[in-house]
Amino acid sequence: MHRKRIIILGSTGSIGQSAIAVMRKQIKDLKIVALSAHTNEEMLVEQAQEFDVETVALSGREPDSEEITHTGPEGLLKMIEETEADLVLNGISGSSGLLPSIAALTSGKDLALANKETIVMAGPLIKKIAADNKRVIIPVDSEHSAIFHLMRKVEKEDLAEIILTASGGAFRDAGLEELQYVTVKQALVHPTWSMGVKITIDCATMANKGLELIETNYLFDIPPEKIKVVVHPQSYVHSLIRTTEGSLYAQISRPDMRIPIQNAFTYPDLYESYMKHFDLMGKTLEFHEPDMKKYPMLEIAFRALEQKGSYPLAYNAANEVAVEAFVKGRIAFLDVPKVVDSILQNGWSRSPESIEEVQDIHKRVIREAGSTLKQYQG
Ligand SMILES: NC(=O)c1ccc[n+]([C@@H]2O[C@H](COP(=O)([O-])OP(=O)(O)OC[C@H]3O[C@@H](n4cnc5c(N)ncnc54)[C@H](OP(=O)(O)O)[C@@H]3O)[C@@H](O)[C@H]2O)c1
Repeated sequence: MHRKRIIILGSTGSIGQSAIAVMRKQIKDLKIVALSAHTNEEMLVEQAQEFDVETVALSGREPDSEEITHTGPEGLLKMIEETEADLVLNGISGSSGLLPSIAALTSGKDLALANKETIVMAGPLIKKIAADNKRVIIPVDSEHSAIFHLMRKVEKEDLAEIILTASGGAFRDAGLEELQYVTVKQALVHPTWSMGVKITIDCATMANKGLELIETNYLFDIPPEKIKVVVHPQSYVHSLIRTTEGSLYAQISRPDMRIPIQNAFTYPDLYESYMKHFDLMGKTLEFHEPDMKKYPMLEIAFRALEQKGSYPLAYNAANEVAVEAFVKGRIAFLDVPKVVDSILQNGWSRSPESIEEVQDIHKRVIREAGSTLKQYQG
């Protein structure tokens, strides 16, 4: 029987290590054929040895060991294109995930997509590349995985609304005035999920939900007015859909990325879970309206989506620059939305028509963000 051959990109990160944990359970129909990391060579080599993987890319620095077969960003793309595989899991963080996603699709692999930036930066173009190459994009982001699997049971014309759930991040219970002096360390304490640095800060500002709002619009062709965001502190409900006659359908499970990763690996089938099932008994599920004053990044994302053109792309790039500046202690937490909002005033109405144009606009935002940042640095 043909085993599904899987490439794991970003295997040393939070998503990557969850994917490795799924594979450790030795689902017999799956096999890892290639792995990648950026700088963490030690963990990468350990993973390659554990799973007997011969094709290994290190994209961010010169390797020390002979196990590394591909180096640099170009080597990473070559590895994706040349390795015979059925599915690529993209667990790379940030905008660097875009070209690897394209390399996967154009070389005939399905794409299990955790790297939401791929869709936020170039959603319509990526969907066209997938369609032209007759490939499937299987969302791994827990909310989009939930919607993707719920939508398999509902006709598109029966869909009235998508409800994205948000944990509220590190400062869910803090007042607006308390946010003024919060530190990076405090912003990195997520109440329910354990994830990489960038996405954890994005949860604290709710930029993560802003990116997911854009991702939802592009992936499922749903207009912004039919997408709602609710704060759900327990993170058990990963999203909901409402059908036209008013029923709500939810996907509920523990907050554990191994679940959407396994479902993406085994798609279109659902395999029995080796994890303990979620027990409803004694659980409370709460839902609240998000406070747009406390989470301006969410309001800016709704605006960017309505403005269309390159606004979503600019939102992502500006946020990357602002988050990096916050993490490095150059700007305050509340400056992040100010920097992004200021950059979005610059006019981004043109829709990119090619991936090269996407990259040019992304670079332009980063250049402009450099000077905007100076106004906020202490
Ligand atoms: N973590 C979650 O639970 C979660 C949930 C939903 C969606 N996502 C999305 O999944 C993606 C990954 O998130 P994460 O939390 O797993 O991030 P992470 O823990 O920071 O891991 C990032 C991975 O990408 C590699 N990497 C970093 N920069 C790279 C570059 N320029 N080129 C190639 N590889 C690079 C890293 O390698 P090194 O280790 O060598 O630096 C690492 O393997 C993000 O887009 C995030 O929004 C994550």
